[in-house]
Amino acid sequence: MQQAFLEQDAYQYGYCRPGQILSAIACVPEGHANTADDIRKYRSGNLCRCAAYPKIVAAVQQAKPLMESR
Ligand code: FES
Repeated sequence: MQQAFLEQDAYQYGYCRPGQILSAIACVPEGHANTADDIRKYRSGNLCRCAAYPKIVAAVQQAKPLMESR
């Protein structure tokens, strides 16, 4: 997930990074990463003042297949 966040450039200054990463990791095995809307809804409590939300969703979508294959 961390690699996906880096590759998707899912941060600006990164203040939200710890919470975003932990929530993103939990999102996949808990079954809330099937669609972009699922990801946005599950993670709606994680605020990013820089509004990097589209890239964060893209990072979760990128990491999901790899996480599920392990
Ligand atoms: S990257 Fe700045 S608060 Fe999320």
